Amino acid sequence: MSKARILIVDDEKNIIKSLKSALGREGYSTVGAESGEEALEKIDQAQYALVMLDIKMPGIDGIDTLKKIKQLQPELLVVMMSAHSTIETAVTATKLGAFNVIEKPFDLDKLLIIIDNALQYQKLQKQVSSLKDNVARKYQMVGQSATMQNLFHQIERAAPTESWVLVSGENGTGKELVAWGIHHKSRRREGPFIRVNCAAIPNDLIESELFGHEKGSFTGAFERKSGKFEQADGGTLFLDEVGDMSLSTQAKVLRALQEQEIERVGGPIIKVDIRVVTATNKNLAEEIKKGNFREDLFYRLHVIPIEVPPLRDRVADIPLLIDHFVAIQEAEGGIRRKTFTAEALERLKQHSWPGNVRELKNTVERLLIMVRGDNVTLNDIHTYLPDLSAPKDKSLKEILEEQEKSIIISVLKKNNGNVNQTAIQLKLDRSNLYRKLRSFGIETG
Ligand SMILES: Nc1ncnc2c1ncn2[C@@H]1O[C@H](COP(=O)(O)OP(=O)(O)OP(=O)(O)O)[C@@H](O)[C@H]1O
Ligand SMILES: [Mg+2]
Repeated sequence: MSKARILIVDDEKNIIKSLKSALGREGYSTVGAESGEEALEKIDQAQYALVMLDIKMPGIDGIDTLKKIKQLQPELLVVMMSAHSTIETAVTATKLGAFNVIEKPFDLDKLLIIIDNALQYQKLQKQVSSLKDNVARKYQMVGQSATMQNLFHQIERAAPTESWVLVSGENGTGKELVAWGIHHKSRRREGPFIRVNCAAIPNDLIESELFGHEKGSFTGAFERKSGKFEQADGGTLFLDEVGDMSLSTQAKVLRALQEQEIERVGGPIIKVDIRVVTATNKNLAEEIKKGNFREDLFYRLHVIPIEVPPLRDRVADIPLLIDHFVAIQEAEGGIRRKTFTAEALERLKQHSWPGNVRELKNTVERLLIMVRGDNVTLNDIHTYLPDLSAPKDKSLKEILEEQEKSIIISVLKKNNGNVNQTAIQLKLDRSNLYRKLRSFGIETG
């Protein structure tokens, strides 16, 4: 990989020359500019990773050039150089967005370290911002239906408070997105969002997982480890599948939540500052009745209840969700986008979606991969999703009729279209069978 390109701005030709050769030896490619004006022109014409900028120059000086650079390209790294740098100019330059100020004459090794740090810093910044984009995409919630607008409203209301929220809803409805939405719109947004899947942690590990442990506190504790409660300090702790916690864990968690302090296994008691958001697909009231969930814990957790509606109650959002998932597949999986025909969309709207949005997401992914053309048609849906269950708005009578029809057809086929034979086998009156065949529009021999 070729090294970064650096613009050196100084009214003294000698400085440019010596910096060019020093940086060139390190593998950087360099371009010189003898004034602020020239520098701005060069920045406009080509991309640089970093600018070395002299403060004292005739014409527009370094500070003014810096201001202009930050207007044009706020992300561009600028290292200021000065022969008589005062604390004051250093402070001004830093406030204006300079990465660093170095004194002339410079110690070359020090200079190289500063440049290296600056570039590393920039690299990390880029990584962080791309990770943030990924997270934002992953957690983006779409929906225009009244049901979803109502949900968004509840999130907006709950988020800025410090109150604890219990998110409930069927599998795959988007409970995790709601939990993250609450964190992201809260005052704790810059703090951590730590998810604990209560159903996935074995009982004997849960204490150490949640509260951490000291080195050597039990066999296998080779290192000190911080627990999820501690990691969430200053942010939001998301206890997912909270209905699956064992009673003994519930007791420990309740204590930690009440006191907002935790005890590392084999270690000290630590204060933590956390907001708790929980999610469950169980009916906790029922679980309490059955003796599986502590009532006192329930009352602590469900200060603000938010119910995420199943997808079948917001089918109007299905086309929008499909667009969203198509875009995600294109951006992340490099899968070419396709258009769903109106009939295909209609069919998908009729499905009952027991797996909710997650099922829809997987369905879209499957169709994008399997279907060849640019369009996803009703036919493709029949081909690739034969197991889509009965549309939800059919009556029992219609469903039974459909089944009856398909049974009759298959028996009729087995009997090579012989109606008598079929009637005997199905223990039906011959005239009755004829009537059914006519009403189903089935032609016989
Ligand atoms: N409104 C929405 N907009 C976009 N994507 C969504 C929406 N709701 C859910 N999803 C997506 O559907 C999937 C399931 O969502 P999520 O994991 O939040 O569901 P869940 O309710 O926590 O499910 P489970 O109970 O199975 O844990 C995720 O991939 C999520 O990104
Ligand atoms: Mg979940």
